[in-house]
Amino acid sequence: MNILYTASEAVPFIKTGGLADVAGSYPRALKSNNNDVRVVLPMYKSIKNKYFESMEKIAEFHVDLGWRKQYVGVMTMEYEGVIHYFLDNEYYFDRDGIYGYFDDGERFTWFSKAVTLLGKFIDFKPDVIHTNDWHTALVNLYVKDFALGDSWFDDIKTVFTIHNLKYQGVFDPEMLGDIMGVSENYFHEDGIKFYNQINFLKGGIVYSDAFTTVSENYAQEIKTQYFGEQLDGIIRKHEGKLSGIVNGIDYEEFNPGKDKNIFKNYDLRSVKRKKENKIGLQKKFGLPEDSDIPMVSMVTRLVDMKGLDLVAHIFEELMQEDIQFVVLGTGDKRYEDMFKYFSHKYPQKVYAGLYFNEQEAHGIYAASDIFLMPSKFEPCGISQLIAMRYGTIPVVRSVGGLKDTVIPYNYETEEGTGFTFENYNAHDMLFKIKEALALYNDNAKWNNLIKKAMKSKTDWNESSKKYVKLYKSIVKK
Ligand code: GLC
Repeated sequence: MNILYTASEAVPFIKTGGLADVAGSYPRALKSNNNDVRVVLPMYKSIKNKYFESMEKIAEFHVDLGWRKQYVGVMTMEYEGVIHYFLDNEYYFDRDGIYGYFDDGERFTWFSKAVTLLGKFIDFKPDVIHTNDWHTALVNLYVKDFALGDSWFDDIKTVFTIHNLKYQGVFDPEMLGDIMGVSENYFHEDGIKFYNQINFLKGGIVYSDAFTTVSENYAQEIKTQYFGEQLDGIIRKHEGKLSGIVNGIDYEEFNPGKDKNIFKNYDLRSVKRKKENKIGLQKKFGLPEDSDIPMVSMVTRLVDMKGLDLVAHIFEELMQEDIQFVVLGTGDKRYEDMFKYFSHKYPQKVYAGLYFNEQEAHGIYAASDIFLMPSKFEPCGISQLIAMRYGTIPVVRSVGGLKDTVIPYNYETEEGTGFTFENYNAHDMLFKIKEALALYNDNAKWNNLIKKAMKSKTDWNESSKKYVKLYKSIVKK
C-alpha cells in the first residue's frame, strides 16, 4: 500500500512533544511491513544543517490560498530507509519558532493544501493519507473537496489521528473563503463550524474516512463530556469510524542493552547493573552516592495536564521518605519555581533539571527506580513506556493510555508492571508511591517486578499491524 504520512513535527528533525516521537518511529515500523510509506513535514528553519545538507530539491508548485498563489518547494531525503519530504516556503516557515504565530491558521492551511496536492508533483499516488492533530487535519477536508473536480482524488482515503484533543486549531471564520478557499458548504454544525469559529481538528473528525486516538481507553474517554473538550457530541456522532490504537516506542532508540547515552548497559539478565547508572547519575547531579536509596523521577513537560499540582500538594510529605527525587523538563513558571525551591530546600534529595536534554533523559530512565506520571488526562503517554523498557517502575494515574499500558501490581500473583491510582487526588498518589517504596525494600519481589515491566511489549509491532488493518478496511470500500 502507498501511504503518505504527515505531521507538523517528527524526530529527529523537529520536536516539541510526543507527536514527534510517534511521527519519527511509526513510519519506519509501517515500512518494514512492506508498505511504501513517505513522510511529509514543513521545512522549518530550525531543522539542523546536517539534515538540510543532505536534502535535494525535486519539485515546485503553487497552491491557491484565497486570491493568492503561494510557492511550495519540495525537498527530499531518505532517513533510516524512509523517504521524507519537506515542503518549503520561507514566508511561512523560515521563522525561529515552530508554533505560536498570529498566522498559524494560514501557515498550516498552506501546508495541508500542499500535502494534499503533493502526490501529483512527485508521481506518488497514495492509497491513504494519514494525518495527525489539527495542523494537518484540513487535508481530510481537501481530499474530499478536490475530488469534486478532479478524479485523481477519488480513490484516496484519509485517516486522522488525534494525539491530544485539547489543541484544536480554532480560527476566525473569515479564513474560510479568504485563505482556505472553500465554500460556505463546510461552515455548519456538522462541518467545521465551532461556536462561530472554524475548528481545524473538527474538520479532521468529520471529513476523514477513519479517525483514531493513540490509545483504546482515550478513544472511549473523548466521547464523554469530561474529556471531550466540547467536541464529544461530534465525536459520538462519528464514533462508527473511531478506533484507538496505542503508540509504541522505537526499540532501537530506547534499548538499555545498547543505549550510548547511559552509564552502564544492562538487559533482562543483567538488571543488577542498573544500579551503576544510579551512581553515575548521582555523581553527575551532585546527589549523595548511594545505590540503595530509591530514586523517584519525572521526565515531563511542566504543565497542568501532567498532574503537577498533585506533586506540589504532597511534596513536603514525600520528602519525609528516604528517597532521591529527580525531575527533568521545562514548562510553566510556577512549576519550574516550585522545583527550584525544593531543590534548594533539599539539596541532598532533589535534583531539578529545568531544561530538556535527550541524553540526560535516557540517563534518568536508566538510573531511577520509580517513574512518576500522575496525569490529569493522557491520550497515550510515551514516558511510561520508556520507563518500563528501562526497568523503572511507573506510578501512574489510571487514565487514558496510562490505563492501557501499565498493569497494576497484584500482591497475590505478583503480576503487573507498575502502580496505578484512580482518582485525581494527591494523597491517593502519595499512597501509591509509598506502596512502591515498600515493595522496593523487598529485593526479590522488586526484581521480579522490574523484569515484568521490561518484558512489556511496547514496540510498534502490534500497533502498526492494527493501522494496516484499518487502512485496508477503508481502501476496500
Ligand atoms: C500527545 C499526548 C500524549 C501522546 C503523544 C503521542 O503528546 O499528550 O499522551 O503520547 O501525543 O501520541
